[in-house]
Amino acid sequence: MRRNSIIADAKFATLQNLENTKCNSSKSGGQNRHEILIKSTLTGKHGFSVASILKYLEECNVTIQFVEIKRPEENSSDSDDDIRLNEVYVQCQCSYTDLENAEISLEKNSSLVVKRLSQLGPERETLHDVPWFPRKAADLDYCRHLREVCEDNQINTEHPGYSDQEYRERRRQIVDIARKYKHGDVIPRVPYTSDENQTWKTVYSKLRSLHAQGACSQFNTSIRHLEKIGLYSEDNIPQLEDVSRYLQDCSGFRLRPVGGLVSARDFLASLAVKVFQCTQYVRHHLSPMHTPEPDCCHELIGHVPMLCDPDFARFSQELGIVSLGATDKDIEKLATLYWFTVEFGLCLQQGQLKVYGAGILSAYGELEHALSKNPEHCEFDAEKASTQSYQDEDYQPLYFIAKSFQDVLTKVRKFTNDNIIKCFDARYNADTESVEVFRKNNPHDVARVVEELNGHITFLRGLVG
Ligand SMILES: [Fe+2]
Repeated sequence: MRRNSIIADAKFATLQNLENTKCNSSKSGGQNRHEILIKSTLTGKHGFSVASILKYLEECNVTIQFVEIKRPEENSSDSDDDIRLNEVYVQCQCSYTDLENAEISLEKNSSLVVKRLSQLGPERETLHDVPWFPRKAADLDYCRHLREVCEDNQINTEHPGYSDQEYRERRRQIVDIARKYKHGDVIPRVPYTSDENQTWKTVYSKLRSLHAQGACSQFNTSIRHLEKIGLYSEDNIPQLEDVSRYLQDCSGFRLRPVGGLVSARDFLASLAVKVFQCTQYVRHHLSPMHTPEPDCCHELIGHVPMLCDPDFARFSQELGIVSLGATDKDIEKLATLYWFTVEFGLCLQQGQLKVYGAGILSAYGELEHALSKNPEHCEFDAEKASTQSYQDEDYQPLYFIAKSFQDVLTKVRKFTNDNIIKCFDARYNADTESVEVFRKNNPHDVARVVEELNGHITFLRGLVG
């Protein structure tokens, strides 16, 4: 059973933003959409009054479109870690001049810090209508939905832990780690209880009995190595910090603790900067083989071994890069592609059907189902997969089969080149570990690429000469 899917979230965001646009369609031209984060350096009851700030922004000709408030915790201390709990995210519409004036005035109040998430610098004229996106891993600290999902609102009446107060409190404690986490922090270790380790053991041992036969070779190679070096075993839940360090050595990806399902846009964007959002809490012990939400069993068993493989990691990152600044409709397509590849993908290896999708590799029943004759199997087609109807309450009725990761990557590249049209292209710069933006038909940006290309050609001449 899976209730909260990345596709459902993408569809929800499309509707929500459409609604916001309708509400603000009467606004005149010459104004741009902006996203800002206002934080107070004071905490708890000393925090700022959100109402007065919104009123002030409106007085500065800033039209508020959407607001998300992060309330300070009742019992929060005044430690540095709590500062960012006292903040408000604002989507608004106004001219650059009005926004700059409002920011300067707000920051005159010494306790307030304004972080603008809109595009900045020379790109802002080209990208003014493009939704903000992170350029480097540290920017994920400003992704608003990473905060939103940290609430305990993902547990609904159908969650096995819904009426178990002890479980809910434990889940909340672990979610707090994600809530306080900032890029660059060491991920705090969770002293898992013997019950939690027992749940992991039940899941791990049952799944491992099927992996040798059903999983693709890349998965089996990675998980065997994780076991060989002692990071993975059936006895203990691996710690995210240890796994993240190992993963970084394998493919450059790192883990970031998260409190639940992340919005499709933010989740895909994090892949672009080689970060995988990873839950740290464990599913309910009464239901070890089913979980309605991602948990560390799903992430660590299903996703991490695949992300250790550099080719697969590259494919995941490319999906993320294409998503940056994409329209809501295109995010839906990319989320659906993600679903039918990274989560529920099958491949052919030496003539045999194998699994590479994390949603299958971490679910005993679905692993058997996916490889049986019951579901429909068809060759991977990026266009079809991007709009394929899906199942989030039962096993998938249809799976796409890839010839190889390279084949999937080539097809997805072609599909996105032809269908995801943007006013810029983005690329990950491994030297600076950040996303570079190239404006289409911009002489300066084209010259940058030509210069780089000349360097490559000179190098190639040296190699073959
Ligand atoms: Fe997943």
